[in-house]
Amino acid sequence: MIRSRIIGTGRYAPSQVLTNDELAKRIETSDEWITSRTGIKERRVAGPDEQTSDMATNAARAALEMANTRPEDLDLIIVGTISGDMPMPACACFVQAKLGAKNAAAFDVSAACAGSLYGLSIADKFIQTGAAKRVLVIGVELLSRLLDWEDRNTCVLFGDAAGAMLIGPSDREDRGVLSTHLKSDGQLAGILNIPGGGSLNPASHEMIEQRLHKVKMNGREVYKIAVRALEEIVREALAHHKLTAEDLDHVVPHQANIRIVDTVLERLGVPREKAVLNIDRYGNTSSASVPVTLDEAVRSGRIKEGDLVAMMAIGAGMAWGSSIIRW
Ligand code: ACO
Repeated sequence: MIRSRIIGTGRYAPSQVLTNDELAKRIETSDEWITSRTGIKERRVAGPDEQTSDMATNAARAALEMANTRPEDLDLIIVGTISGDMPMPACACFVQAKLGAKNAAAFDVSAACAGSLYGLSIADKFIQTGAAKRVLVIGVELLSRLLDWEDRNTCVLFGDAAGAMLIGPSDREDRGVLSTHLKSDGQLAGILNIPGGGSLNPASHEMIEQRLHKVKMNGREVYKIAVRALEEIVREALAHHKLTAEDLDHVVPHQANIRIVDTVLERLGVPREKAVLNIDRYGNTSSASVPVTLDEAVRSGRIKEGDLVAMMAIGAGMAWGSSIIRW
């Protein structure tokens, strides 16, 4: 078996910053409420001419540059997103064209906030089997266009961003992606979704008037399920390798909510200092969250060769996953 390794990372966030105080001028909320409940201070919002695939392409270019890899060397592009440029074709195809990755197959993965870990898991299998040598995995969301800006329960939580991971074969058996673990429970589809725009509620005036094309969420249910599921899937991954939480050097969590992250860390027995956190600056960027956070930790030198890293994410579906990496 060929082990896979993350050989390049990249990120992109739009330049426009939207602070909690600015939000409080538009809706009934406050910096104090948002900060204390979520840890978010500000988020990024894409400009009117910016598309999901533009953000994804920017993050991808940074990852390719880090690994000194040309777009034409890519065999596969996987984009985790629920907010692509169009329902059809895949956002990955727009990225393929914008990069000029003429030898790459391209498709999207719909696993919401877990999209980049689902993508990493697929990439890992392509590398392991020798079916591909260079796979680009991107998590990207332009959720600001799918949020109901009058719904304070949801609009304060999310931000726009893109993160990329370039996956290739490892030259050392003891370095790279040790495993990925994925789970889902479609019985929970009702607690976080965009009900309109698909076959159930196709586009119509009525559907738009009812705002069914916007994100709907039962925050309390998401919270309860997220803490349980994330703890379980990290434990499962550690047990698989006969490792313990103490062996971890870093946790790269999906930045959903600081209270979710803190609770999971506490249950796992991992000190907060080991978690890479940036939710205060980006909010919840869904599938972009893990690769953006990873890129910050790699570029700052925080994650070093030989470190043991756990990544974890959960989102709509519900779909969740973890990965253990020896960097
Ligand atoms: N500003 C001020 N007040 C608000 C806001 C806001 N932005 N949003 C809701 N409230 C009000 C509610 O209306 C409610 O008022 P009421 O009691 O008069 O009805 C009150 O605050 C309390 O609401 P709760 O829902 O009980 O607040 P809670 O403490 O549960 O926090 C939150 C809400 C932050 C959404 C929490 O449930 C949570 O973190 N859930 C997880 C959701 C999440 O992370 N989603 C991300 C997508 S999924 C993922 O990435 C895992």
